[in-house]
Amino acid sequence: MEYAVKAYGLARTFGPIRAVADLTLGIPAGGTFGLIGPNGSGKTTFIRMVAGLLPPSQGRLTVMGQRPGTRQVTQSVGYMPQADTLYRDLSIQENLDFFATIYDLPPARRRVRIKEVLDLVELGPHAHRPVETLSGGMRQRVSLACALVHEPRLLLLDEPTVGVDPELRLVFWQYFRELASQGVTVVVSTHHLDEAGRCDQLALLRGGHLLAQGTPAGLLAESGQPNLEETFLHFAGVSKRGKAQ
Ligand SMILES: Nc1ncnc2c1ncn2[C@@H]1O[C@H](COP(=O)(O)OP(=O)(O)OP(=O)(O)O)[C@@H](O)[C@H]1O
Ligand SMILES: [Mg+2]
Repeated sequence: MEYAVKAYGLARTFGPIRAVADLTLGIPAGGTFGLIGPNGSGKTTFIRMVAGLLPPSQGRLTVMGQRPGTRQVTQSVGYMPQADTLYRDLSIQENLDFFATIYDLPPARRRVRIKEVLDLVELGPHAHRPVETLSGGMRQRVSLACALVHEPRLLLLDEPTVGVDPELRLVFWQYFRELASQGVTVVVSTHHLDEAGRCDQLALLRGGHLLAQGTPAGLLAESGQPNLEETFLHFAGVSKRGKAQ
């Protein structure tokens, strides 16, 4: 199997905090991969290491067979951070132009592609509005458009649907699946377990450790639980009332 991301014994500490601890996992190329885990379980830290923004403290990490963070790898990676990094005083269009420029999109392609991603997130009519005038959900949509503008082969989406209304969440997921069918690897962290169920594969994290990895159906079967919420609790060794067993 071809892997977009491979981690061996990956760890990242912040002083005494072990944000990611001895993580070994492979993310298959082309498909949707969900990172599930409670607050502070290391999802964002892992994604930032894959994006090449945070060096690991220990272990090995390859992204499309290479060291993360090099120019060549970064050109093929789209990253939508948990907290957006948009320029508030610039318009939606100007933000997209900025991201397209830093990814070296040729000017003619830039125009076409910006229109495509604006249509996708349904913000075409608002293209000239400054980001600071947008609602939270609209900013989330701009942030997704910025991560997509250079047509990355690996898309890292850190809680992309927070603040997005249910109708548009469905549109987002249809698009993630479409990208995956075109061979793009879509990595999504989420607290929405209905979204987790849509992923081809899931990794369950807790305290920086990998609890389990597999398809949603495979994890359900392995745990013998009726849903993903209880499956997660099963692998975490926690009873439904929250006590460790
Ligand atoms: N820059 C940092 N400095 C110090 N501690 C950090 C830093 N970044 C993350 N941590 C800590 O590392 C742990 C994992 O954090 P991380 O943000 O990766 O979790 P998460 O799974 O993304 O959580 P959430 O669901 O809340 O987004 C937490 O204990 C967090 O406080
Ligand atoms: Mg996070």
